[in-house]
Order: sequence, then C-alpha cells, then structure tokens
Amino acid sequence: MEGRIVEVQDTWREGALVDDAKYREMYKASVSDPEAFWGEHGKRIDWMTPYTRVKNTSFEPGQISIKWFEDGKTNVAYNCVDRHLGTRGEQTAIIWEGDSPDESKHITYRELHAQVCRWANVLRNRGVGKGDRVTLYLPMVPEAAYAMLACARLGAIHAIVFGGFSPDSLAQRIQGCGSKVVITADEGLRGGRKVPLKANVDEAIKRLGSPIVEHVVVVRRTGGAVAMEPGRDVYYDEAAEQVTDECPAEPVEAEHPLFILYTSGSTGQPKGVVHTTGGYLVYASMTHQYVFDYREGDIYWCTADVGWVTGHSYIVYGPLANGATTLMFEGIPTYPSNSRFWDVVDKHKVNIFYTAPTAIRSLMGGGEGPVKKTSRASLRVLGSVGEPINPEAWDWYYKVVGDSRCAIVDTWWQTETGGILITPLPGATALKPGSATRPFFGVKPEMVDAEGKVLDGACEGNLCIADSWPGQMRTVYGDHERFEQTYFSTYPGKYFTGDGARRDTDGYYWITGRVDDVINVSGHRMGTAEVESSLVAHPKVSEAAVVGYPHNVKGQGIYAYVTLNEGENGDDGLRKELVAWVRKDIGPIASPDLIQFAPGLPKTRSGKIMRRILRKIAEDDFGSLGDTSTLADPAVVDDLIDNRQNRA
Ligand code: WTA
Repeated sequence: MEGRIVEVQDTWREGALVDDAKYREMYKASVSDPEAFWGEHGKRIDWMTPYTRVKNTSFEPGQISIKWFEDGKTNVAYNCVDRHLGTRGEQTAIIWEGDSPDESKHITYRELHAQVCRWANVLRNRGVGKGDRVTLYLPMVPEAAYAMLACARLGAIHAIVFGGFSPDSLAQRIQGCGSKVVITADEGLRGGRKVPLKANVDEAIKRLGSPIVEHVVVVRRTGGAVAMEPGRDVYYDEAAEQVTDECPAEPVEAEHPLFILYTSGSTGQPKGVVHTTGGYLVYASMTHQYVFDYREGDIYWCTADVGWVTGHSYIVYGPLANGATTLMFEGIPTYPSNSRFWDVVDKHKVNIFYTAPTAIRSLMGGGEGPVKKTSRASLRVLGSVGEPINPEAWDWYYKVVGDSRCAIVDTWWQTETGGILITPLPGATALKPGSATRPFFGVKPEMVDAEGKVLDGACEGNLCIADSWPGQMRTVYGDHERFEQTYFSTYPGKYFTGDGARRDTDGYYWITGRVDDVINVSGHRMGTAEVESSLVAHPKVSEAAVVGYPHNVKGQGIYAYVTLNEGENGDDGLRKELVAWVRKDIGPIASPDLIQFAPGLPKTRSGKIMRRILRKIAEDDFGSLGDTSTLADPAVVDDLIDNRQNRA
C-alpha cells in the first residue's frame, strides 16, 4: 500500500498557485539563494519600516542565533486587520460556529478592527504594554482571536494555555512567563458540557508562589455565576464600555516576540517556545496560501484549538494575514451527532478543511452514513496535521469525505517550526497516502543516522533541518541554553526535530514518529516525563515509567508502569485513583490509558530504566526484546510480560 501514487487531478491544477514545474523552480531558488527568495516573499506583509537585511542565522554550537528581516518594523495586528479595511472591510473575517448548531455569527474585518482595538484599550488600561506577557485561558470564542490580536497590536506577548489543562499546569505556565494579566471566560462549552475556566484560573492563582497576576479579564460565555475578586477581576464587557474602539498599532522590530507557547519535551518541564513577529507572519501567511492553495473568497476551516500552535498559525495569523475568511469552531466532532463537521461544512460552504488524523479515525468508527448524508460539495482541499496519518484513514478521508475529488495535504510541522515544513501542494504534488511528501520552500530536510552521519538517497533515520526558515522558533523563553541543548546539540550544526523518518526513492518523506520521550496522543504532544512526575507525586507510588503504545483512535495511548510503595495493593480502584490524579494534576489529555502495576522496572546495573523493553511490552510485541543481558535483574521482565495490559 505504501508508495501508492495518487496523481494530481486536473481540477486541482486548474487555477492553482503552482504546478509541479513551478514548485521545483521555486524550491530550487529558495534553497540556493534564501536571501533573494525571502527578500522577495517578505514583502507579502506590510512593513512600517522596510527591512534591508533578510537572513542572519547561525546553527553553530555556542552561537545559535536566528534573525530574519531584523532591521524592519511591522505589526502583526495591523497586517491581519487594518491593511484589509480598504479592500475588504465588509468581508467576513471570522465565522464563529458555536458548540450548539443554533449558534453562529459572522464578524467582518471592520468589526474585527473595532473589537481588537477595544480589547487593546482594555488591556492597556490595565498596564499592558510592549513586551509584557499576557496569559490566555479561553474557549474557542472569537474573543480568543480579538485578545491575541490586541496583544500583538500593543507589542505585548501572549501565552495561550489550552483550556484542557489543569489549574496546576496553568499556574506553572503563568509563573514561567510572569504574566500580570490573565484573560479567561466564565465557563467554556464543549459538547454540551461546561468547563470551569474561571474557577481554574482562581485555583491556579492561589498556587502561585508570589502575587504575579494583577488583573483577570473575564469573557462572559455561558453567563454562569463565578467568583469575582474585587480589584483584580473584571468582566470584559464592563471594562469595554469604558474605552473607545480606536487604538493605534505599535510598530515593533521584526524580532520582537509575538507569543510564547508551552510545549512538551523529553523532560518534566514544558518549554516556552518563543515566536517573533516578522519572519513568523511571513512564513505562516505564505504556507497558508500555498499549502492550502488558498484562493480569494475561499471559506477556510481549521478545526484545531487556539491553545495549540495549529490554532495560532492556521486559524488566526496565517489566514487573517491573507485576508481570508477563517472559521472558528467551539465544539467537538461528535456533538450533537457524528455529522457535525460535515453539517458545518455545508452550512458555511467550506472550501478548505484542516483537521487531525485522530478526528478522522474516531469518525471512521461511526461508518460512512453520517458523512454521506451531507453534501460536502463545497470542499476542495483537505488537510491533516498532528501525527502520521495511516493509509487507511487517509483513504477514508480521500474517498468518503472528499468523494475522491479533493486534494489531501498531509502537513508535517511542529510548535517549534511555526508553520508547515513538509507537505504536498495541491496543484503540484502527486500524493502518496501516509507520506507528508516534499519540503516547503526554503526548507532543507536532512536525514542522519544515530551517529549524525548525513544519509543520501532513500534511507531511514532521524530528521534534521539543515538551515533556518523564517517561521522557526527563536529561543526557549528565559533559557537560550536550553534551546541550544534541546535542538542543536544532538547533531551539531543542524536543527534536530525529534522525529524519525524515511525518505523514499522519489525524495518523499514518511514521518515515522518521535524518537525521543515525547508521545503524541490524539495529536496532543505529551512528555512521558511529565506524566511520570505526576504519578510519582502520588503518596502510594514509588516509581513510574510511561511509554506510548499504538492506539486505534488516538494514534498513541499512554501506558504507565507503576511500582507501588511497600504494602500498597495495586487493584482497579487504585488504577482509577491514579488516572483521576493525573487528570487533576496535568489535565484530561494526560490521562493514562493503561496502568500496569509492576513490582520492579527493568534497569541496567547503573540504574537506567530500559525503556526500549517497556515500549515493546506495551506494544504487546515482546518476542524480540533484543539484548537484555545488561539488566540488573532479568526476572522483572517475565513478570512484566505476564501482567501486560495490552493484549492484542
Ligand atoms: C507530529 C503540531 C506525522 C510529529 C503541528 C511532530 C506529525 C509533532 C505530523 C509536533 C504529520 C505533526 N505527520 N507526524 N503530518 N504533524 N506530527 O508541536 O511527531 O503539537 O514532531 O505541532 O507532531 O507536535 P506539535
């Protein structure tokens, strides 16, 4: 099945921005002379002070530094809103589709401008200015976009925390970036259920060591009663009455930070990924246009949450910079029925649809019926992101959802990359189900073996990127050393992605998944170390090791090996207790799927846990455990196998 080719259809090529020849020509130009290429494409956004320098980047050990368009000045909100007012003020910028199918609204660019300005004034009145950090903990409501753009307008740095994170996780992130303002809603609404966002913020603030947060701005979403602390908390609508809807956009340096977004890595502490202004916006807008073959007038829908990078780049910044109509969806794919995605597509005549394999797989479980009873005639391009899409899900997406008529773009990228790096282009790239295909303009993938030797031709190895692109993260917030250590020390001189990949004879890339201790659960990134440190914090647990295992719907599930303290009894009751513990500690996305109580973990004589063995057992593939001779106590392995929780 792998390697099967789905040719570009004539209808995809008609009117497309690039065909195969044009892609090859542009790609070649982009990597042979990045200065000239990006010097030209950097002009796709408006600059208040034009740049004269284009690329100033170094991947050299000890000197990691990434700067693009560094002497230019611009403003992201200006580019996403103001510059469209002359030509498309009355066009819809955002279509908001609520959790309930009865609720939706259209916001024009002119309305967006007024909203963003008002938000900026409310924040400015609370002391927010250039360089200040603002944490957003919001549901998928238009106010999330207004608040992001308001921060950008003032030169403030937003740090969004996904609404599914617990108060502890939220506190850690507020503390990490020192936000003095938090923006939240009374409650969120997903699949008919309420999420206590304001209550979580209150809990989080209580846990902060010092009084960092001066103001909490609360959006009324459900109208539910919440505690309001006088002097600190204010309802947005009340604060908004005190200000005007005019607020100038502050010109900032191209390298001024736009946002911080926390993401999981191999250690227990999430990293604050920093993205800046100019290069990020150029890259997000350019990839949005080319990868989705975005055309004037298209209705574009990305189903991600703004709490993840996909929501930043491909719900808000990329599409709005391009003057697109972007759809924001508050709900979930299965509420009120399994047809919801396709009902929304028909209701708003969506042309471009971008989702995650986990959503596709969960809908596949409901069969073709809920899809086939909708029209979906407006669809032209279907995107996938977040994890490898297995060929079965790819086929279902292509044939059932797209009626074998729509191009599929399997887009590989990361929080760190700011935008899509490896992807087909609809009018240009012959598709292979399961492959993210070829690099975007300016991206130089390099495959290396474990020793760092660069591999040629068809090969399998670790995926690196040899040179910088404008959307690349610039640093880990407050810890440049960690940035260098994490991404540039494994293979000096290259950015290491943490992903393994295969390259075939056509030069197509097949991402095989993470090679580090990061797992991808329903497209959400999770560090196994984060789950482990949560488990060992439980009073009955002495030790824990967490690995991923293949899961039909989620892609990967979370498998936890837990060693209990002397005298504790591992039973289903304790399993439930531990799951609840982790949910409360980190958030529902970190809930272990399977817990195995283990009297001992397989360790080397030097005390290092042999995760390779734990992964194999979790995969129910223990026939070939490889070399176990370095184990301190080989007998623990037999017990682990006997009591394994995932039995095919
Ligand atoms: C994985 C999400 C295969 C990969 C934008 C990467 C993918 C991690 C794909 C980043 C894809 C993302 N095919 N794997 N099309 N897209 N991944 O930071 O392992 O949440 O390293 O960014 O997701 O996840 P993150």
